[in-house]
Amino acid sequence: MNSAHKGVTVAATDNFYITTPIYYVNSKPHMGHAYTTILCDAIKRYYQFSGRDTFFLTGTDEHGDKIQKSAEANKIDVQKMVDQNSEHFKNLLPIIESTNDDFIRTTDERHKKVVQELLQKVYDKGDIYFAEYEGKYCYGCERFLGNDELIEGKCPDHKTEPDAIKEANYFFKMSKYWDDLKKHIDDNPDFIVPDNFKKEVLGLLRQDPQDLCISRPKSRLQWGIELPFDQNFVTYVWFDALINYVSGLDYPDSEKYKKFWPNAHHVIAKDILKPHCVYWPTMLLSIGIPLPKQVAIHGYWLIDESKMSKSVGKTVDPIEYSEKYGADLFRYFLLRNMRFGRDASFTQEEFISTINAELANNLGNLYSRLAGMCRKNNERKIPAASEVGEMENALKDKALSLKNKMEEAIQNWKPDQYIEGVIDLANHINKYLDETKPWALAKEEGQKEE
Ligand code: MSP
Repeated sequence: MNSAHKGVTVAATDNFYITTPIYYVNSKPHMGHAYTTILCDAIKRYYQFSGRDTFFLTGTDEHGDKIQKSAEANKIDVQKMVDQNSEHFKNLLPIIESTNDDFIRTTDERHKKVVQELLQKVYDKGDIYFAEYEGKYCYGCERFLGNDELIEGKCPDHKTEPDAIKEANYFFKMSKYWDDLKKHIDDNPDFIVPDNFKKEVLGLLRQDPQDLCISRPKSRLQWGIELPFDQNFVTYVWFDALINYVSGLDYPDSEKYKKFWPNAHHVIAKDILKPHCVYWPTMLLSIGIPLPKQVAIHGYWLIDESKMSKSVGKTVDPIEYSEKYGADLFRYFLLRNMRFGRDASFTQEEFISTINAELANNLGNLYSRLAGMCRKNNERKIPAASEVGEMENALKDKALSLKNKMEEAIQNWKPDQYIEGVIDLANHINKYLDETKPWALAKEEGQKEE
């Protein structure tokens, strides 16, 4: 059996592998990071409850200029800093009730080993060369930005001017795989969702094919994985980090890898579109590993119109919210209030009003009415269905049609619409109760018996 919908096609028997980005450890996690993890967790639980074998991976990205600079600025040993901050990300997981199956760190030996093995493969294939390069580097993004990506000379995400860097480095012949990648995107309409991001990637691929600088000289950066073919260089942090998606499955010989790759669904926000939709697939094409099934891209959580981020100085603490209101309420709000692919604003007022209107008044009220009636009139048990008339049949039809709509929504990365189905059904049941007043009926029957 296949469930084919407009956006995603997942065979009902496929194993399901889902990943978050691995987060930088130059600071503590904020609500934006918690959101991607919660979204992955909700989708994983859906597929798990539908009977699939699932694997959910998250973790931390610990090498690179940004991390080394942050440790220097805080006058702390870099290993000590990454250990402490990785722990913050790990500790958040039970607080937001994440059911991830593993947590990978790029400083893990198991990861470093795979990065070196894959670099050597690409090198042996002749897809890596040495050359001098000059470009504008954004340390926040950890990548060279083209002039067309800058707004008034600044990185649009980090609002900083990139540094001019000129040095000799190793390059990956990404350009060689440009056309194969375009073909893959054309042949697999669900590879990048939603559609507007697919168009953005195809736009990038219409530009002149580029190669990717994949090393940093140790004279400038020591905090990275040494290149297996030149010990004077460390690996560029994105080439290192993206490999977590296979090293986290213990590539290449493990049962886990064989079971879950390439049924991979990478969930990211739009800030890291290019590394995931251009660097990663071309790396895999060179190595000869099949491409993941899908990259699913969500928008930004905003505060006061700008992206919630440490570098812009505006964040919400997911621990504070989960502990104050409970993880369920925090998760509910995040899943409910972001439409897939769009940005969403976070305000305390919106948080409270969503929770009050939908969870307390609607669902909470329904639950307390039903539980109250069972407690009072039926020895705390749910009664068997009695007469089924027109109204009951209408309610049943509503529930069944909503079920189909909700399944389609969640399979297309729209948990907000899935939740809308639950709320819609609760509204209908509340209305049914208002009209049929079963508590009055129970009272009448009680009186008859007396
Ligand atoms: N280390 C890289 C990812 C490497 S993956 C191989 C990185 N790390 S990050 O710490 O900057 O995390 C970026 C991701 O965190 C986003 O893609 C998104 O998943 C999440 N978010 C961070 N801020 C966010 C918002 N304000 N809104 C929504 N998601 C946010 O990039």
